[in-house]
Amino acid sequence: MIPVVADLLVLYYSVGGSLRRMAELVADGVERVPGAAARLRTVPRVATGFDAPQSPIPQSGPPYAELRDLEECAGLALGSPTRFGNMAAPLKHFLDGTGLLWQRGSLAGKPACVFTSTASLHGGQETTLVSMMLPLLHHGMLILGLPYTHAELNATRAGGTPYGASHFAGVADDLPVSAQERSLCIAQGRRLAEVALKLAA
Ligand SMILES: Cc1cc2nc3c(=O)[nH]c(=O)nc-3n(C[C@H](O)[C@H](O)[C@H](O)COP(=O)(O)O)c2cc1C
Repeated sequence: MIPVVADLLVLYYSVGGSLRRMAELVADGVERVPGAAARLRTVPRVATGFDAPQSPIPQSGPPYAELRDLEECAGLALGSPTRFGNMAAPLKHFLDGTGLLWQRGSLAGKPACVFTSTASLHGGQETTLVSMMLPLLHHGMLILGLPYTHAELNATRAGGTPYGASHFAGVADDLPVSAQERSLCIAQGRRLAEVALKLAA
């Protein structure tokens, strides 16, 4: 058995399940690389004052991310639903709590990639993906996109961008992840793990 050389953090937020399904595919891609393991984590909802109070820890699903997950992992895949063309507040809230890691330079030089899902086809996938890259660039992370050597990027009629994997979920958030979207999620996880292992070598 090949020993685990690098843990890759797959951190996502999901209400309806689209991002959860994508995160599992990204994690699958990570685990296809010998020596790499995926660490799946999520974040809690944030209380907004006009919304429900802070939600309890769910009975099932991955645990909530802690700062040490970011410190310990060799790379990061960050997944958020599109919210008004932007990253969802719970993930932004978590990232806003990483100032200490920024001061220490804990994430500088680590590879990272991003993925998202939308209700509408042109509802802001690219803007959301770019919004997610910004704090990671401030941390000094090395942003990985998806190269057009993946034929799915040209063939897709749903999600899939060079900025990161994406999914067109439909207004009811119930469309299945298409074969091309799925393949790009796996490719993204695989690419992250391969680069992390190369950097660690
Ligand atoms: C407050 C809010 C804002 C949203 N903004 C957008 C948007 O700008 N564009 C879009 O296409 N979908 C938007 N959506 C839909 C979600 O991005 C979409 O349903 C996504 O697949 C949800 O992911 P999840 O199932 O992992 O929660 C929004 C949903 C909510 C609740």
